Amino acid sequence: MANPEGVEQAVRALKRAQIVALPTETVYGLAARADDAEAVARVFAAKGRPSFNPLIVHVADQRHAATLAQWTNTAQCLADAFWPGPLTLVLPRANDAPIADLALAGLDTIALRAPAHAVTRAVIAHTGPLVMPSANPSGRLSPTSAMDVSRAFTFTEAGAGDAQIALILDDGPTRHGLESTVVGLTGARPTLLRAGPITADALAPITGPLSQPDDTPCAPHSPGRTLAHYAPARARLRLDATTPTPGEAYLAFGPSLFSDLNLSPTGDLIEAAANLFRHLRALDEAGFSHIAIAPIPRRGIGVAITDRLERAANVQR
Ligand code: TXA
Ligand code: MG
Repeated sequence: MANPEGVEQAVRALKRAQIVALPTETVYGLAARADDAEAVARVFAAKGRPSFNPLIVHVADQRHAATLAQWTNTAQCLADAFWPGPLTLVLPRANDAPIADLALAGLDTIALRAPAHAVTRAVIAHTGPLVMPSANPSGRLSPTSAMDVSRAFTFTEAGAGDAQIALILDDGPTRHGLESTVVGLTGARPTLLRAGPITADALAPITGPLSQPDDTPCAPHSPGRTLAHYAPARARLRLDATTPTPGEAYLAFGPSLFSDLNLSPTGDLIEAAANLFRHLRALDEAGFSHIAIAPIPRRGIGVAITDRLERAANVQR
């Protein structure tokens, strides 16, 4: 468990322009001070992340966010309802926002989120805004435990090397298991840029019907919406599979006659979201080259689960 000394150590490392892995209520993140170009560059290097893909800036609260963006009524209503929590808002950036250009990939918009996790909130209270992409090599499964992070990166106590992580704060498995919902507030109507734990149905009373971004592979509205993403390291995925074929692992959902692992034996979508990346990683590491996945209902957080699976299944091998 992360303790006050852990928080202090993380704050010290961040103030020295090092990068640290922190738990959030969605997935573990790789944090750097958002105003420190060198530290932000280390995050891109550690992840192997393309520099055109901007990072989410994590803040303490709405007051803080409003100093970095051109805050709107809709942003205020959404933050009142869902912050701190798993919701990211994309807004026009404030001209004088003290955020490294690299963090925003040169865009004139900024993605903002106030995370709910107590440990990370304690860190942010001392450091100010932090960029925090999911703590995985670019394109791979997001980490839902400290172990996932430590297996994907090299660590150094001094945090010396360019692409190395100074420390990781372990606070057990993450609650939601999927990345935050991302809502774009820069156009005429709010847009659902990434499905997540806050569902479209939960947002609609505030935003009205959300429009879907009209992506083309070359010009996605949100640069991270590339079609191939969230992939296991080796295994190929087959979706909406009611039975496995010989040699395939079967990732079940609900009561099932066959299953190597089950996302939720009782058919609970929230439990399935929390288990998704963990189970995919476990089957991949067990050496299966093919994983068949049971149909997942496209309602509630099932929409976000399906979104991640479809992108992961798109990865060419
Ligand atoms: O739950 C989360 O959001 C986690 C935790 C650690 O907070 N973070 C996370 O960050 O998922 P990342 O970098 O893995 O995903 C951020 C997504 C990317 O798809 C990126 O393209 C999009 O947000 N994004 C960031 N800034 C944007 C902007 N200005 N406009 C549109 N999309 C943006
Ligand atoms: Mg990510």
